[in-house]
Amino acid sequence: MAMNATYPSVVHCRGLTKAFGVGSTATYALQGVDLDVRVGEILMIMGPSGCGKTTLLSVVSTLLDLDAGTCEVLGRDLARMNQIERSRFRCATMGFVFQRFNLLPGVSILDNVTVPLLIGGHSRKDAESRAVRILDELGLRDRTSASPNELSGGQQQRVAIARALVHNPKLIVCDEPTSALDQNTGQVVMETLRDRARQTDRAVIVVTHDTRIVNYADRIVRMEDGVIIGCNGAIEAEMPS
Ligand SMILES: Nc1ncnc2c1ncn2[C@@H]1O[C@H](COP(=O)(O)OP(=O)(O)O)[C@@H](O)[C@H]1O
Ligand SMILES: [Mg+2]
Repeated sequence: MAMNATYPSVVHCRGLTKAFGVGSTATYALQGVDLDVRVGEILMIMGPSGCGKTTLLSVVSTLLDLDAGTCEVLGRDLARMNQIERSRFRCATMGFVFQRFNLLPGVSILDNVTVPLLIGGHSRKDAESRAVRILDELGLRDRTSASPNELSGGQQQRVAIARALVHNPKLIVCDEPTSALDQNTGQVVMETLRDRARQTDRAVIVVTHDTRIVNYADRIVRMEDGVIIGCNGAIEAEMPS
């Protein structure tokens, strides 16, 4: 863990609530979530389907507004930012791996991965050389000119991971990042993520069902019915309440 970090927690949430719909048909996806993601760690979130994991990731990554509670990311209170500030903040500081990959169809792998850099103002040349480097790291160097539909599910998932990492974000948020990967590739991805988590002022959140990768977690929190019901991991014991 980094000892001289700028932020005590990369993510600090208290009493997060989020409902979809209103009245008798409402779904209460988050019902008072308290969560801290500490500098330098890989935090894993596990729990049954429908318990609110994706909703929690969406709120933390500013893609969804919360109904009540507070959420600070990298020391910024999300509720105090307007839509434009939030979207700039998101592009500059976060990388995502979505459950369904969300790659741009009909566009080369290289172009998919350069998007976050071009948005961030990098030149095309610089963006492409960074994209090639990360694709190489993830074993996709020879597929840079393919389009997503020419790749296997596992390759698409690695492209999504390359896109999430290419702009060196401080917070990396992954929804089931290894679900389509074999054991070996899953390990490569987790080692890449761990490497990133250990860089200054960085952290990684991974939602997963994949028990093959739990040994990469610094802590694991369990969710059920929109709340966090428990946590394990040595680091928890050292934290003041
Ligand atoms: N956009 C949405 N509209 C309505 N209900 C939703 C929406 N997104 C999620 N939900 C509901 O919120 C609950 C939590 O969903 P989700 O966060 O996707 O769970 P998980 O990722 O743990 O499977 C579920 O009951 C789900 O049906
Ligand atoms: Mg989900």
